[in-house]
Amino acid sequence: MKLAVLASGVGSNLQALLDQVHGRDGIEIAAVASDKPDAAALERARAAGVPVASFPGTDYPDRSARDAAMAGWLAERGVELVVLAGYMQLLSAQFLDRFPLRVINVHPALLPAFPGLDAIRQAVDYGVKVAGVTVHFVDQGVDTGPIILQRAIDISSSASREAVEERLHRLEHELLPRAVRLIAAGAVRLDPEHPRRVMIEDSPSR
Ligand code: GRF
Repeated sequence: MKLAVLASGVGSNLQALLDQVHGRDGIEIAAVASDKPDAAALERARAAGVPVASFPGTDYPDRSARDAAMAGWLAERGVELVVLAGYMQLLSAQFLDRFPLRVINVHPALLPAFPGLDAIRQAVDYGVKVAGVTVHFVDQGVDTGPIILQRAIDISSSASREAVEERLHRLEHELLPRAVRLIAAGAVRLDPEHPRRVMIEDSPSR
C-alpha cells in the first residue's frame, strides 16, 4: 500500500511512520506534502528519500484549488491512503471525495472530547484525569470522523502540561503506525449497520 503523509510541523509522527512502517509489509510512504514549505517534516522525508512537495495557500486562489493540486500530485504517485500527521489545514470535500474512507488523522485527545486546536491544553486546563489519543477517519467536520483506534492514559499524577504532552506524543507514535498497519492489512472496515462504528479484525502481531 502506498501512502502519503501530510504534515505542517515538526513531523515526529511522520518519523514514527518512516521508522516503523515504511518499507515493511508492503507499505511504502510514497509522498509527503505540506502547506508550509519550511516544515521540518519535509526535511525528515527528504532524509528518507521520500518525494516531497509543498502547497502553500498563498499560491492558490482558494482552498479547493490548493487541494485539487495536492490531490493530483498524490494521485500521480499512486497514493491509496492519506495520513494527516499534524496537518493544520481543513481538507475540501472534493479532496476527501477523491480518497473515500482513505484519509486518517491522529488527534491528541479522546474524541469526541477536545476536538480542534490545542487539544492537550484544553484537556489539561479542564482538569481531566484521563487523557489519550485517537486515530480516526477524516470527514468534513473538525475531528468528527469514525474512530479507528483510541487509547487512554491516567494523567492524575502528571505534574505539568509538558509531561502530559510528552506521554501523549509517545502514545501517538505507537497508535498511528498501528492504524496504518491495520488498514494496509485490510483489517479495518465500517460496520454496515452502524456506519460510524469501525470494526477491526485484530491480531496481536500488528
Ligand atoms: C500531534 O500532536 C498530532 O496529534 C496533532 O499535531 C501534532 C503533530 O506533531 N494533530 P508532529 O508534527 O507529528 O510532531
